[in-house]
Amino acid sequence: MYARVTGTGSCLPGKPVSNDDLAARGVDTSDEWIVSRTGIRSRFLATPGTTSSELGLVAAQHALEMAGVAASDIDLIIVATSTPDFIFPSTACLIQNKLGSRKGAAAFDVQAVCSGFVYALGIAEKFIRSGSHSKALVIGAEVFSRILDWNDRGTCVLFGDGAGAVVLEAADNPGILASALHADGSQNGILNVPGQVCGGQVTGDPFLRMDGQAVFKFAVRVLSEVAAEVCQEAGVETNTVDWLIPHQANIRILDATAKKLGVDRSKVIVTVDRHGNTSAASVPLALDEAVRDGRIRRGQKVLLEGVGGGFTWGATLLEF
Ligand code: UT7
Repeated sequence: MYARVTGTGSCLPGKPVSNDDLAARGVDTSDEWIVSRTGIRSRFLATPGTTSSELGLVAAQHALEMAGVAASDIDLIIVATSTPDFIFPSTACLIQNKLGSRKGAAAFDVQAVCSGFVYALGIAEKFIRSGSHSKALVIGAEVFSRILDWNDRGTCVLFGDGAGAVVLEAADNPGILASALHADGSQNGILNVPGQVCGGQVTGDPFLRMDGQAVFKFAVRVLSEVAAEVCQEAGVETNTVDWLIPHQANIRILDATAKKLGVDRSKVIVTVDRHGNTSAASVPLALDEAVRDGRIRRGQKVLLEGVGGGFTWGATLLEF
């Protein structure tokens, strides 16, 4: 029994916000600095009140439509998010209700920050391969703009909002060839949102904090290691994958990872220039874009990779 992606979908809120727009809104930055350090030219920012479940719902509906699967047939929903609508219930439960999908089906959130989608996909694959579930929705959805300190120019220019989703179904043929999930909690200090809820109030710091250079070095190392790991497990040479979709954090991280793996730059799917870093949504957003514009075709090998706070990282090699 394998788990196979049968549909993809995505959702981006509102209109693109350019680097110049951010500068005009008072961020002490420039298009030249952001583009040269990150490759980011614009991002989408949700209007106040727009939630991760709303974005995730639209992405899920598009994925179901492509797969030709009814919401009522979904027996598992996993949502990767660090910006859930509420402390609880989970965003997955909210999406299950909004979709009108089967009551009683399993639904839960996964918190692995920017690795969240790859974690959720790895978990869903294991549910399906065990035979306990047969049709899953795996969603990455974020309104990261809510946890940004707009006075911290070193972080606020990097992120954006959005959602991506896949339908994963039991199949006789692959499907997912290999996946790996990892974490190193000793690195929790280099990327975090260190606030807490106490007495009904957020105490401490509710905004994203990051040691950018430490994150950069860590990300490039683990993204190349975990890509090599899943390729080795599947018996596939890294330079023979058809498409590489790393977490869309920074164009320099994407380029360095591809170079280390010997993957030609033309095989790397890039959305960071137009979406910024959408955390758990970045990989499924990029996957959906490349499927819908015809670059990724059935039978091709696609390598998905995530890395993020925790620190967490992981990869999935699949035959689309
Ligand atoms: O999902 C994982 C998410 N995290 C990442 O992907 C982050 C990985 N790290 C990075 O991408 C890079 O470290 C950054 C793009 C965040 C920063 O680049 P850097 O080359 O490491 O710059 P820096 O933090 O060392 O800052 C260099 C200069 C500083 O000025 P001084 O002290 O040299 O005068 C900063 O104040 O750039 C300044 N700076 C900015 N200037 C204009 C920092 N942010 C900005 C900005 N606009 N937005």
